[in-house]
Amino acid sequence: MNDPHEFGVLPDGRSVTAYRLGHPGALQLTVLDLGAIIHRLELPGPGGEPINVALGLPSVPDYLDSDAYFGAVVGRYANRIADSRFTLDGTSYQLAANEGRTCLHGGLDGFHTRRWEVLASPRADVGERLALRLVSPDGDQGFPGRLEVIATYQVAGPVLTLDLQALTDAPTVVNLTNHVYLNLAGEGRGSVDEHRLVVDADEYLPVDEHGIPLGSLAPVAGTPFDLREPRPVGAAARGDHEQVGLVGGIDHSFQPRGPAAGGGLRRAAALSDPASGRGLELWTDQAALQVYTGNALSGDVVGTSGRRYRQGDGIALETQVHPDAMNHPRLTSPVLRPGQRYAARTQWRFTW
Ligand code: BGC
Repeated sequence: MNDPHEFGVLPDGRSVTAYRLGHPGALQLTVLDLGAIIHRLELPGPGGEPINVALGLPSVPDYLDSDAYFGAVVGRYANRIADSRFTLDGTSYQLAANEGRTCLHGGLDGFHTRRWEVLASPRADVGERLALRLVSPDGDQGFPGRLEVIATYQVAGPVLTLDLQALTDAPTVVNLTNHVYLNLAGEGRGSVDEHRLVVDADEYLPVDEHGIPLGSLAPVAGTPFDLREPRPVGAAARGDHEQVGLVGGIDHSFQPRGPAAGGGLRRAAALSDPASGRGLELWTDQAALQVYTGNALSGDVVGTSGRRYRQGDGIALETQVHPDAMNHPRLTSPVLRPGQRYAARTQWRFTW
């Protein structure tokens, strides 16, 4: 690990440390032990200078005050749970609602503002791998079971890999993801409207006005959700379709083709910025991909570089299971039982 340094201090006096992974002139990552947040993700610019392509905030209080989940590992259940409720093995659980009646990204006190413990790693000396651990007690935000989570970031050449693993001591539900917003032109450089997006999915999950899935997958063909060929993000997010209108852009779960959990990695999406020539492919073993075009970024926060983030200034490609999946038996189950290991892998394969 190169150069860990103090990033700030929490209200209870504990310090927040920033860890850097990767090497100058190549992919470099700065991760905080607050929320396991990707604070900076730098790719080399034309002259080799680092260009930060991840939206982030300048200070600890900014992260604690924000409800945009910049760069964080979100959990226990990324995305929405209808009425903050589910039933498992005959027992009903009422969770902490934080968006009207909905539980979003883990509830009132999600993983994104917890301080994670940094684990020593055998590879720590080479500055390429960082493992962070979080224990969520039984009953945390209403979720059953004590959940132990390990998030491991690894940088190898132009590839960033995130492994999310979890164990429980009682039946529960788990859905973890990283919520990084990307702007390949550089964070704070305006909108990603002209980025080209591919989503390798024939189906997506229509939602109601609260972002809750209606229950069944629908074909993307003939809709703004048809991203099987590269399309400008702005054109999709402004598409003339009722589903786009309901959530003010794209904020939907897609079902990438190919195997789901356990079946190995397959490409779920690709994003490129024709102006800078930077791009990425997103590979995952997860069943679903939430595409969120930064619809709620509203100019109320100033990012790392001192520029304000407005609507559409970043795009989040969140690998996960579908929202509210525990309440829809036809969707991939998010149930985790004692003795099973939750394991989700996501890779960002960058080009520059
Ligand atoms: C959700 C959005 C939500 C955002 C919060 C995304 O993952 O899909 O609906 O507004 O997170 O930052």
